[in-house]
Order: sequence, then C-alpha cells, then structure tokens
Amino acid sequence: LKDEIKSRLGETQDLTDLDKIRVSYLGKKGSITALLKGMKDLPNEERKTFGAEVNKLKAQAAQLIEERLAELKEKEIQREIALMPQFDITSPVALARGSYHPITLVQRECEKIFSSMGFNIEDYSEIVTDYECFEALNIPKHHPARDMQDTYYLDNGQLLKSHTSAAQNAILKKYGKGLIENGTPIKAIFPGRCFRNEATDACHENTFFQMEGVMVDKDISISNLIYFMKTMLSEVFKKDIKVRLRPGFFPFVEPGFELDISCLICGGEGCPSCKHSGWLELCPCGMIHPNVLREGGIDPEKYTGFAFGLGLTRLAMMKYGIKDIRDLNSGSLKALSQFTDDE
Ligand code: PHE
Repeated sequence: LKDEIKSRLGETQDLTDLDKIRVSYLGKKGSITALLKGMKDLPNEERKTFGAEVNKLKAQAAQLIEERLAELKEKEIQREIALMPQFDITSPVALARGSYHPITLVQRECEKIFSSMGFNIEDYSEIVTDYECFEALNIPKHHPARDMQDTYYLDNGQLLKSHTSAAQNAILKKYGKGLIENGTPIKAIFPGRCFRNEATDACHENTFFQMEGVMVDKDISISNLIYFMKTMLSEVFKKDIKVRLRPGFFPFVEPGFELDISCLICGGEGCPSCKHSGWLELCPCGMIHPNVLREGGIDPEKYTGFAFGLGLTRLAMMKYGIKDIRDLNSGSLKALSQFTDDE
C-alpha cells in the first residue's frame, strides 16, 4: 500500500488531484481508514501488531502527502515566476525629472544674493487697494501718472497690483519701528506677480514678475543704490556688470532713474543685440520720495532711502536668452524644462 501511495503521489501534478488521493486513503471512506475500522474483527493478539502497523502506515501516508503538497506548491511558484516579465534590476533608468520655471530660478537667485546682503524677503498679496498701489506712492486720484500702468480694477474697488511698489507702504510701516527705535536699517525685497492690461507681443505680457527692493537708513544715497544693484547683477550674470543711470520719472522716487547694464553680449562695445548702444535697459529705480517716506511713518528729514523695481521676467529672459515673453506663461514643458539652476 505504501508503494502504491508513493507512485500515485509521484504521478500527480496538481493540487486538486493530490487532495483526491489524500481522501482515498485517509478520508472517512479511505482505504487506510477502512483498515483501522476492520481491526475490531481481528483476534486480540493480531489486533495489537496489526494496529501498530496500520497507524505507522497512516502516519507515513500523511507525511508523504504533506511532502508532495509542499513540492507541488513550490513548482507552482516557480511556474508563476517564469511567467513574469523579466526585469534587469541593474540597468540604468531614465527618470523624467521636473524642473523649475526660469523665473523661479532667477527669483531664488536674487533672493539668495539679497539675503546674503542682509535684506529681508517679503511676500505680498496680488490684490491690493488703490491706496497701496497709488495713493501711498504719491500718485493721487486723477494723477496723470496712473496712465503709465493700465490697471485691472475689480468690482469691489480693489485692484490687481500693477507693480510690486504697492507693497512699499506696508514694508515701511512694518520695519519703520525698528529703524526709529533701534536704528536698524530697513532692507527688504519683495518679489511678486504684477498685472497690466497690455496688448501681448514678444516683449509684453499682461502678467509678469517684478522684484521690488527698498533700503532706508540715515544717509542713504544714490551710490548705495548703484553699489547694491551692481553687486547683485554681477552675481546673477556671473560676470562684472557695468551700470549707468539715466533720468526716469516715477512719482514715488525723486530723483528717479532708469538703470542700464552693459550689454551681456558685447560688454559695452556695441552689437546688434543692444542696438549698438552697448547698454540694456533693466531696472527703474530712484531715491524714495519724501511723501512716500512720510506716508510710511518715516521722517524724511532724518532718513533717506532708495527703491528699485527689478523686472524679474525681463531678467530671466536676458539671463536665459529667451526671445519671446509669451513662452514663459505658455505652460509648454518643451519650452520651460530646458532651464536648470547653474549651481
Ligand atoms: N514700480 C515701477 C514700475 O513698475 C518701477 C519702480 C520701482 C520705479 C521702484 C522706481 C522705484 O514701473
């Protein structure tokens, strides 16, 4: 019987069949069970040895079935593994990595440079009041300078900020106490998105980024302004940048300037990209108007300061040689994913 079990087990290949074999020997009506049941008809002395034999056989049968079961399960696993697609876990993988927007890259770089020079970085709302955007900046209602920025007004009388200068008043108020009580200079930059109702072309967008900067202390002069701008821009472009100031008009600065930088291509010699002038217009700036200081709670007799409104969008275009401003807001990954942080 034992040999028979062995050979039947050896022939079977699947688990249901194996269970049938088990039942045929060890089940209620199985042949080994029948042998045990038949014992009661045997004479006493035979029953003892026979019983021991049958019990041994039962145990061996159970063990053989157990072993075959484990074997078949293992086979099943191997078969499934063989069916799975093959992976080479050592082959290199090309991961599609995300990338930062060029404006984010330039903004972060400027933030790093200015914070290393002791400037605080401020965040500011995109929806502001007429007071913040104009009146606090020495632009009263009906002032013709309002036409310089074609502003989006909201139904509730608020507006989308048309320049980051809209945060100047709040910044002066926030840090003015420290200046007056402890003599801590006000040094802050505030990057942000600005909106103007401009017709869109390669150089104009209705949505763009600026980074405003202010510094107020005793005896701040135009040379401080020039120094900070020159240092910052030389860092951004990784080369020595020359700057020059031309007069410019903004009601919240006096005097006001347009800051130009030496052409990035020709370095000032004159080439087609700077229209042979050697200079590129980059950043409006100036000395903060006394009325603006006063409105911010700072005595213009005691303190002076400068402000600048760096066009981050323009800076990113210059730094990365982007020809069309519309690419920056396009959401086109093909256009935008080619820029990397050069650190
Ligand atoms: N806010 C001005 C603009 O966007 C730029 C500016 C900022 C000029 C600070 C002077 C000082 O046109």
